[in-house]
Amino acid sequence: MRKKTQLIHGGITGDEKTGAVSVPIYQVSTYAQDGVGQHRGYEYSRTGNPTRFALEELIKELEGGHAGFAFGSGMAAITAVLMTFNQGDHVVFTDDVYGGTYRLVSNVINRFGLEASFVDTSDVENIKAAITDRTKAIYVETPTNPLLKITDLKKVSELSKENDLTFIVDNTFSTPYWQNPIDFGADIVLHSATKYLGGHSDVVAGLVVVNSQKLAEDVHFVLNSSGGILGPQDSWLLMRGIKTLGVRMEEIEDNTRQFIEFLQGLPEVTNIYYPGLEDHKGYDVHSQQARGSGGMISFDVGSGEKADRVLKNTRFFTLAESLGAVESLISVPAKMTHASIPAERRGELGITDGLVRVSIGLEDIEDLKEDFLQALRK
Ligand SMILES: Cc1ncc(COP(=O)(O)O)c(C=O)c1O
Repeated sequence: MRKKTQLIHGGITGDEKTGAVSVPIYQVSTYAQDGVGQHRGYEYSRTGNPTRFALEELIKELEGGHAGFAFGSGMAAITAVLMTFNQGDHVVFTDDVYGGTYRLVSNVINRFGLEASFVDTSDVENIKAAITDRTKAIYVETPTNPLLKITDLKKVSELSKENDLTFIVDNTFSTPYWQNPIDFGADIVLHSATKYLGGHSDVVAGLVVVNSQKLAEDVHFVLNSSGGILGPQDSWLLMRGIKTLGVRMEEIEDNTRQFIEFLQGLPEVTNIYYPGLEDHKGYDVHSQQARGSGGMISFDVGSGEKADRVLKNTRFFTLAESLGAVESLISVPAKMTHASIPAERRGELGITDGLVRVSIGLEDIEDLKEDFLQALRK
């Protein structure tokens, strides 16, 4: 089955009993048992729910894994994956992981004894240097936020196999439509499904896909023990969003490339970061491991003042922290997502005050161009 078909026909489709073409929303907490210990597959909805299971089967198939799990947010999914490790274990992370992941690892999970190193994983030598005899996993994002840095999935997977480590990839930016890390040797793939998978800024959710029975048991054990599950209504909403992921990603890619061409013609704009551009540092690696580059672009408008002006005056770019929606979103990382990083370190990373990040949506591209131009020149 090709990806676009799989988005519609993958997982569990409809309802066999009634012929309904959409999976029913099983708004239920518990299930009648035929005898003590004799149930029909479901006992209690924290452990398993048929609507959530349909979504879990769908994401499992889309990522080509062994089992899928749905959580109440991307952070709940990441927390559950990290809770499969033990006190004293060490994990190597991409240095510019999502800020919430950094906060979780360095202010919450650390209190339970999980140790972490943050390195630039776009160079595999940095990961090698960070591995100790207590390292149990490598956790990467590719592309990253906001500079869209690329990590070589195949090389990192080889390194993790050599060292008997679990290789975890946050695939939020690419989605399973453009990139499938398990094909390159990843063991666990996770998503903030709040972004492109849901796609309409109306649901907060997280998904995890694992590539083995052992990892499935480990993740399900934490899910059932800690309880950060996704409810049936939101599971259904997410399945509805996923059906159109293909057309949305294709159209978003098209809009994004046209918007980049437009930016390239503006003298005020420099340093356009997009992994689909040939002059992007990670272009070659990204083209080998992904079928598309998505709708996230970062670029410099020259100064913090200019960035403020753009943000204040755009009409069709909504000033908001999220990404991956039908509506275009705009943010200034130095003042929003990366404000907690000291200015000097931000400068080293290339996150200048004038760096603007946009998530291109599905509006008519001519409206987006006109709107951006009037905001920039106001
Ligand atoms: C790459 C990435 N991972 C994880 C998360 C966390 O997901 P959520 O907001 O659904 O908890 C985000 C949120 O912005 C993200 O961008």
